[in-house]
Amino acid sequence: MKVAVLISGRGSNLQAILKAENNKKLGNAEINLIVSSNPNAAGLEFAKNYNKYTIVLDPKNHADKTKYDSKLKSILLENNIELIVLAGFMRVLSHSFVDYFKNQIINIHPSLLPAFPGLNIHERVLDYGVKYSGCTVHFVNAEIDGGPIIAQRVVEVLDGDSPDSLAARILVKEHILLPEVIKKISEKKISVNQRRVKVN
Ligand code: GAR
Repeated sequence: MKVAVLISGRGSNLQAILKAENNKKLGNAEINLIVSSNPNAAGLEFAKNYNKYTIVLDPKNHADKTKYDSKLKSILLENNIELIVLAGFMRVLSHSFVDYFKNQIINIHPSLLPAFPGLNIHERVLDYGVKYSGCTVHFVNAEIDGGPIIAQRVVEVLDGDSPDSLAARILVKEHILLPEVIKKISEKKISVNQRRVKVN
């Protein structure tokens, strides 16, 4: 299964995916393409280290979101990509894009969705005072962070947590969960029925 990973920054999830592939822990998935929306993304270094084909798609070089998304779509189609993994990709994809690739785009989000979608997640988690947070991998649909949930991992919120300390503990779980989900999808062990996702 040909996979593209889309990033915008640090790329630690990308690194975890590439490491899993290297260790033959990614099932039938092959990371064929890395797309970064940011020419200065630190994650591009990981792509280089693993000799991966990389494309920078800078929004600054595209007139608008429609043009950006249609360029992205043509790159993905040219490369016969079957699964699109958003790993810290900080752009909202257009409705027509996500409809076209229905159930072929997954995203990792650092909270237990549907709680705390959007941005500044850990600050809001701490302000609200919830006792557990975590991470979610979900299919991407037109609703921001609102697609069918594939898998979640729970992390306890500690009394002394700062947004950074909580983010760091959640990130450890993200790095395990995202490659696991990619592996399962590549082995056709995941099926979707409306909002219910079955993982075998
Ligand atoms: C991760 O924590 C990911 O869950 C989050 O951005 C971080 C990217 O880190 N994604 C979102 O907030 C998406 N809304 P990374 O670049 O080191 O993988």
